[in-house]
Amino acid sequence: MSILKCDNLIMQFGGLTAVNHFSFEIKAGAIKGLIGPNGAGKTTVFNMITGNYKPTSGRVLFFNEEITGLKPHKIVSRGMARTFQNIRLFTNLSVLENVMVGFHHKIKYKLYETVLRLPRFGAEEEKMRQMCISLLDRVGLKDKINLKANELPYGEQRKVEIARALATGPKLLLLDEPAAGMNPQETTDLMYFISEIRDKFDLTVLLIEHDMKFVMGLCENVTVLDHGEKIAEGKPADVQKDKRVITAYLGESYA
Ligand SMILES: Nc1ncnc2c1ncn2[C@@H]1O[C@H](COP(=O)(O)OP(=O)(O)O)[C@@H](O)[C@H]1O
Ligand SMILES: [Mg+2]
Repeated sequence: MSILKCDNLIMQFGGLTAVNHFSFEIKAGAIKGLIGPNGAGKTTVFNMITGNYKPTSGRVLFFNEEITGLKPHKIVSRGMARTFQNIRLFTNLSVLENVMVGFHHKIKYKLYETVLRLPRFGAEEEKMRQMCISLLDRVGLKDKINLKANELPYGEQRKVEIARALATGPKLLLLDEPAAGMNPQETTDLMYFISEIRDKFDLTVLLIEHDMKFVMGLCENVTVLDHGEKIAEGKPADVQKDKRVITAYLGESYA
């Protein structure tokens, strides 16, 4: 079953066509890669899927329902979460507090109850705290919950950001260059991490990545973008041999 479908997406910024007639779909449970050189339009595709950009034309279907142009929080509440190319943590908040931020839209109390501090507030807040602790435990960060985000090494900050995305209870998780800026050890570690959470949380994962080894080791299927156009798609090993891909993408790093 396909969980996400992009149908003929076009995104223009003034005179620039950043993404042109882009179509693809993702099978439920897959780890799919979206790769391509810098400026190819990868992040723009993410932004159209997550509602951060409204496509110039084309459609996005999530669980077979059209979500094109919905506000990001509406899309989150349908079961999609993302991380950004640059880590966006509240550096002065603890790891636990950062993850609680992700959970917030799930709490069921009305504003007046918060203001009046009715008993239900305390109970909901405590329930949320416990769920976030349990989430951090499941992703192997339980002993770090009281540290400030900026006290963690880079690789673990990335995991906290992913944990925060998981707090919204997604079915589809989008990761924009999760391994960027990581050393080889952190990169390998992150590969295992992503594959583990896919199984544990029953996720489908779409990830943008520049690091070819990362994509080859982790993704079952990749789509290659170049200058806003899809130029190849398939198993990583096959895509790697594609002439257009070698020229457009691998050419860069193997030159
Ligand atoms: N908000 C925007 N306004 C204008 N141009 C943009 C905007 N977002 C992306 N672009 C342009 O679209 C192209 C694709 O960018 P992007 O999707 O970030 O590429 P990638 O993530 O593959 O590196 C680039 O030329 C970029 O400058
Ligand atoms: Mg990008």
